[in-house]
Amino acid sequence: MKPNDLPSTPWALARRAARMNPSVIREILKVTERPGIISFAGGLPSPSTFPIAEFAAASQQVLAQDGPAALQYAASEGYAPLRERIAAQLPWPVDPAQVLITTGSQQGLDLVAKVLVDPGSRVLVETPTYLGALQAFAPMEPEVVGVANDASGVLVDDLEAKAAGARFLYLLPNFQNPTGRTMTEARRAELSQAAARLGVPIVEDNPYGDLWFDQPPPAPLTARNPLGCIYLGSFSKVLAPGLRLGFMVAPPMLYPKLLQAKQAADLHSPSFNQRMAHEVMQGDFLARHVPRIRSLYRSQRDAMLAALARELAGLGVEWNSPDGGMFLWARLPRGMNALELLPQAVERGVAFVPGAAFYAGETPDAEALRTLRLSFVTATVAQIDSGVAALAAVIREQQRR
Ligand SMILES: Cc1ncc(COP(=O)(O)O)c(C=O)c1O
Repeated sequence: MKPNDLPSTPWALARRAARMNPSVIREILKVTERPGIISFAGGLPSPSTFPIAEFAAASQQVLAQDGPAALQYAASEGYAPLRERIAAQLPWPVDPAQVLITTGSQQGLDLVAKVLVDPGSRVLVETPTYLGALQAFAPMEPEVVGVANDASGVLVDDLEAKAAGARFLYLLPNFQNPTGRTMTEARRAELSQAAARLGVPIVEDNPYGDLWFDQPPPAPLTARNPLGCIYLGSFSKVLAPGLRLGFMVAPPMLYPKLLQAKQAADLHSPSFNQRMAHEVMQGDFLARHVPRIRSLYRSQRDAMLAALARELAGLGVEWNSPDGGMFLWARLPRGMNALELLPQAVERGVAFVPGAAFYAGETPDAEALRTLRLSFVTATVAQIDSGVAALAAVIREQQRR
């Protein structure tokens, strides 16, 4: 039977399914899997940082000591010793009862949207913002409104103009995905006060905060107003993303609803993984391990900055110098379009993510179309050098047209 001969489908899609879109990044990643492509596109931590030997030892230990519980169904809140450890390590007083273990912080974004967003609810985001958050919010049919930013963070005047009726403001204050920028102490203080005054709760997403290069970032917004904020953390960038472990810290009035949403979603995050992560982090493991990630990523950032300065000099491209995290943000010369540049770049063997993907709302403007995100952590230094040279060659080619 040919496909056309099939009877008409009995399936009807829910309205929210129509709002789900494939992630532009995942689509680009498929291209970058082609052999020979140097990818600055993915948001993947460097696999060289994964503590494989420690996980091998931890898995044996967990199975020997606690095998039945590690392989059994468990509490939706998460493994109690892991929740206690998380609470103890956060830089403000946190009751472990307010910690909910999630299946990656991506699940935290999904639960937040389910619990707080009705169709048409206003959700405020930074400009630009994390694409995965836009994806998690979209099925709940919010009105997503971008709040303007400068290099120091969200502009409080613009928040005031857009705050009316907002369910929450979604913020990435540290080494933001996609721009790599960090909100200054002064802006955090101003924003925290303004949000409390305007009655706008904050959802603070902080997967990169530990990956600082020279000095730790200022205190989280949640530390300034714990009852007005939900805080999302992740083990993906300091241990391994394949564990799919993150956490949220939520105010007591919201916690039960988030827990119910979590139960409905997946009952609980994997018991085995939670115990392994807890076992690996025993003692001072993170105090030894995280500085190694910082120093690797710092040298990778420096290699990319040096390559950009060398290869792109005089081409009119601008870029920033992030103080941590995994991404750098660049802006092509006026009139150029990163979406159009990408296929030519891929032809030459290098990939990036066009910045337009990270702007909430309709059609990206000419400014957004000029931007691109470059990850500096997965490629080797040699690949960074040749990838940036290839990027310079396509930009030069475009300029000659
Ligand atoms: C800003 C941001 N939030 C959340 C996530 C999801 O991380 P996790 O692996 O914890 O689900 C990512 C992943 O790249 C991210 O960049």
